[in-house]
Amino acid sequence: SQDARFFLPADAEDRSNLSTLRHAAAGCRGCDLYRNATQTVFGEGSPGARVVLVGEQPGDQEDRQGAPFVGPAGRLLDRALEEAGIERGEAYVTNAVKHFKFKRQEGGGKRRIHETPNAGEMRACRPWLLAELRILEPEVVVVLGATAGKALLGSSFRVTKQRGRLLPLPHLDALGTPAAAREIDNALDGGQDDGGAGDSADEGGRDESRARLLATIHPSAVLRAEDRDAMYAGLVDDLTTVARAL
Ligand code: URA
Ligand code: SF4
Repeated sequence: SQDARFFLPADAEDRSNLSTLRHAAAGCRGCDLYRNATQTVFGEGSPGARVVLVGEQPGDQEDRQGAPFVGPAGRLLDRALEEAGIERGEAYVTNAVKHFKFKRQEGGGKRRIHETPNAGEMRACRPWLLAELRILEPEVVVVLGATAGKALLGSSFRVTKQRGRLLPLPHLDALGTPAAAREIDNALDGGQDDGGAGDSADEGGRDESRARLLATIHPSAVLRAEDRDAMYAGLVDDLTTVARAL
């Protein structure tokens, strides 16, 4: 069982199936992370969400409560979304990896210290995220930080290079493969931007080919930063770009 696909319901692509998906994910053993974590933390939000925000993995609080972005990073994200003018009902939040990966504090303390999921764990868990995106068909996917970026766009992803710009969302089948990274690189090289006024053929549509992706920093990076105010303002800026695209 080196992959979540074995645990996906057969009808995972049915649009009505977010809750079926959630129930199936609760029993996932697609990688070893289920062993030490409390529970699967599936995405949460409106089924009609126009924006899907993708974080790294649940943190300590999320692991205990069973919901994404409910700890300190989540509170900061909620505030930033509100300031950017994105309503809760427009957004769905989820993670690239659905179980909390941690190590125990040295000396047997109680504190559980976050560990970054590795490439194998990201690959194993990706089917859940892809199934969420297929069902939700968001207008914009917001990638929060490097881990989510690598999970969706491959290991060459760099937040510093790609943040803050509305890029075409690569085809879902390509996500996580080098093809997705190439699509993004081409868009960056070509100076492709928000796809707004002056764009070609498919003007005005809401079809999948119009879906966008925007990468930004992770809210936890704001919490850790020395220049916290500037980092926070940058996050709000990027989310404001998303709000304008809706
Ligand atoms: N950080 C994340 O990436 N996701 C969460 O759900 C919480 C903190
Ligand atoms: Fe399954 Fe993802 Fe949890 Fe691994 S991290 S067990 S793939 S839900």
